[in-house]
Amino acid sequence: MRAMTYRRYGPAENVQPANLPRPKARKGEVLVEIAASSVTTADWRLRASAFPGGFWLLGRLMFGLFRPRQQVLGGEFAGRVVACGSGVTEFAPGDRVFGFAGHGTHAEFVTVKAGGCIAKIPDSLSDAEAAALPFGGLSALVFLRDFAQLCPGEDVLIPGASGGVGLYAVQVAKALGANVTAVASTGKLDKLRDLGADRVIDYTRQQLSAAGRDYDVILDPAGFLPYTEGRKLLKPNGRFVALNFGCAEIGQLILQKLRGGPRLVIGVNGDKKADLEVLLEMIKEGVLRPVVGHNLPLEDIQEAYRLVESRRRKGPVILQVG
Ligand SMILES: NC(=O)c1ccc[n+]([C@@H]2O[C@H](COP(=O)([O-])OP(=O)(O)OC[C@H]3O[C@@H](n4cnc5c(N)ncnc54)[C@H](OP(=O)(O)O)[C@@H]3O)[C@@H](O)[C@H]2O)c1
Repeated sequence: MRAMTYRRYGPAENVQPANLPRPKARKGEVLVEIAASSVTTADWRLRASAFPGGFWLLGRLMFGLFRPRQQVLGGEFAGRVVACGSGVTEFAPGDRVFGFAGHGTHAEFVTVKAGGCIAKIPDSLSDAEAAALPFGGLSALVFLRDFAQLCPGEDVLIPGASGGVGLYAVQVAKALGANVTAVASTGKLDKLRDLGADRVIDYTRQQLSAAGRDYDVILDPAGFLPYTEGRKLLKPNGRFVALNFGCAEIGQLILQKLRGGPRLVIGVNGDKKADLEVLLEMIKEGVLRPVVGHNLPLEDIQEAYRLVESRRRKGPVILQVG
């Protein structure tokens, strides 16, 4: 099968096409022929060994000390089941499915545990839309609902709202009943209003501190707002939820125990099937819609990475595989 592989950490040019054996569905797994995948900030961090906040060594220990352990990146996929291993009852060949496989989706085929983060694609979604959903949608859901414990009527500030996670965070926060203030650059503000933001702030023209409001929650998906700045914008019992964290934030966790006031919350998303189903329910109710920013053929994966690394793309970067 065609696959995009990297054998050394480094720039986008390290990702090269290769022919690999097609994987086989083992017990409890399905084999998916991929139609669409995506390149995310997580793929870029793994490829470049750009682990945030002084976690370089930890990242290398987890993902390969001298060279990457997994040579095919890509977590999200949308495609068609072509074979089922023994014991699989939930899916059958021909089913359109999507989800989060962890790695290996920058290729024509991937195997996924049937009980893992995989679900059938509703007829209303294209393959590209389905592939654009899990990374941002699951992160937004888990960090707002579980880590922030966002309640209806609360005020939430989302810097980096036009990014891969932010575009979903705006919608999920609205769906959870919050008042949403979204932060992005000038050209992205209309999109954020269209997705449901109550207020928008153009970070190129206005200081966040000038917004004149105390928030219950700040969700910082992209990592451009340090907690030390963000906490000044929060109510005394507010929560600052950081998706990117490093040694500095661990230090702040210790400090806040002594100091009190707004809480810093960090965590890691678990990518669960049940949460994928919550997102599908939100789509059915019309309160969530997938966003596709860029659509490129698999062969243009290096260009896809450059878009992601620019931190200024228009939304999820989709790879057309099939
Ligand atoms: N902890 C976990 O379990 C977990 C799970 C998922 C993801 N993550 C992490 O979360 C992050 C997700 O990032 P993402 O995909 O949302 O990022 P992204 O798509 O790169 O988003 C970048 C955002 O930052 C804004 N921005 C760019 N430059 C800026 C600047 N100088 N000042 C202020 N804002 C600026 C952009 O706004 P404009 O384009 O409007 O300029 C855009 O909204 C990744 O680092 C990933 O590793 C963690």
